[in-house]
Amino acid sequence: MKSFPTSLLTEHRRSDVRDSGAIRVGVARQIPHSRRTTMSRLFDGYDLSGLSLRNRVVMAPMTRSRAANGVADSETALYYRQRAGAGLIVTEGSQISVEGRGYLLTPGIHTPEQVEGWAKVTRAVHEEGGRIFIQLWHVGRISHTTLQTNAESPVSSVDRPAVGSTARAYDAAGSPATVHVSRPRALTTFEISRVVKDFVRAATNAIAAGFDGVEIHGANGYLLEQFLNGALNTRVDRYGGVRIENRLRFVLETIDAVADAIGAAKTGLRLSPFGRIHDMQAYAGEEETWLTLAAQLAARKLAYVHLNDQHPFGPPALSANFLRKWRDVYPGTIVLAGGFDLHKGDQMISSGVADLIAFGRPFISNPDLVQRLANGLALAPIDRSNFYGGGPKGYTDYPVFDHSTST
Ligand SMILES: Cc1cc2nc3c(=O)[nH]c(=O)nc-3n(C[C@H](O)[C@H](O)[C@H](O)COP(=O)(O)O)c2cc1C
Repeated sequence: MKSFPTSLLTEHRRSDVRDSGAIRVGVARQIPHSRRTTMSRLFDGYDLSGLSLRNRVVMAPMTRSRAANGVADSETALYYRQRAGAGLIVTEGSQISVEGRGYLLTPGIHTPEQVEGWAKVTRAVHEEGGRIFIQLWHVGRISHTTLQTNAESPVSSVDRPAVGSTARAYDAAGSPATVHVSRPRALTTFEISRVVKDFVRAATNAIAAGFDGVEIHGANGYLLEQFLNGALNTRVDRYGGVRIENRLRFVLETIDAVADAIGAAKTGLRLSPFGRIHDMQAYAGEEETWLTLAAQLAARKLAYVHLNDQHPFGPPALSANFLRKWRDVYPGTIVLAGGFDLHKGDQMISSGVADLIAFGRPFISNPDLVQRLANGLALAPIDRSNFYGGGPKGYTDYPVFDHSTST
């Protein structure tokens, strides 16, 4: 069993080191300037609309597909406890309804059992002094009839299926399988307010489960972006078409309803401007759409807006010019994600275009990522084979940095 040497330049204390069976789980308190090996601003504390974060490192939302029956459990709690050294954790996407699910084994936040499961997670993270938001997810057309009630079609802005996208659902024999997404049907105008209510119910459930706030998933080609995207959303009602304000309406109504229910200071939003994942195509007026949304969000005093730059997954990187324009219209907290390391993250904060930096994949294999970054320690490599599904392997069995084997 490993223990932390006293020379480690973080605020580990004996009481912060918990025995979790196979490995030792360590959680850092805020790291004072005098005891860091790097002076990066990433390790400064941050006031997130009244919620104090002990550093500016966010754990990005990451689906891990290990929730049997869609319920977070004690293994989920251990996984997030191990990573509570982040200034803020954003959980994996959690469906707000049966309709909103696109993958087997993802957790939900719409039943009492799911709320109970998540309460174990929030307790664990709070015991370590961490902060945690839950990502509220409706996949829209990235789903399959076998996941839907009565094998109905998934829903979207229009009835066009996402080309090249898959869902994790059931095959014709009823076995779990990766399958092409089904053709969706367009939500009626009337139904949209029902989906907004599903988001609100999920948000109030999240607060009941002890979360510090929620992040509405408006990114990566899922339902809300299926309405924002001008190439896809050709509706002719007040929720779509060429007029930007119509395509923004659903996401803004969702934000406003959730903020009304739980408070704007507890409500965040994730977006992926110019993202191409899940068949989101380019369209005329794309930048104007995003900047109009930024201006609309500016007035709403949200906890944060989280911009996910998809460049690690293929699309071109967000330009410095676009990030500057976003900052010019959006004065609130900006979280940036997508391919960051310490140096790049620090640059973004110093240049003023971001306040917090989210790390995704590095957090999977480095539960003590903040301590490693703060002390210039080597990072454990990423093992993609365990990203989705399975048990503790590649999930809760990554150790904290082992000083006894380093030179
Ligand atoms: C295994 C995995 C699962 C992910 N699941 C989600 C998710 O549930 N919600 C979401 O918004 N983004 C998701 N993402 C995207 C990450 O939040 C993040 O934006 C992306 O990995 C880029 O950051 P990185 O380069 O630091 O990994 C996922 C990424 C990975 C690798």
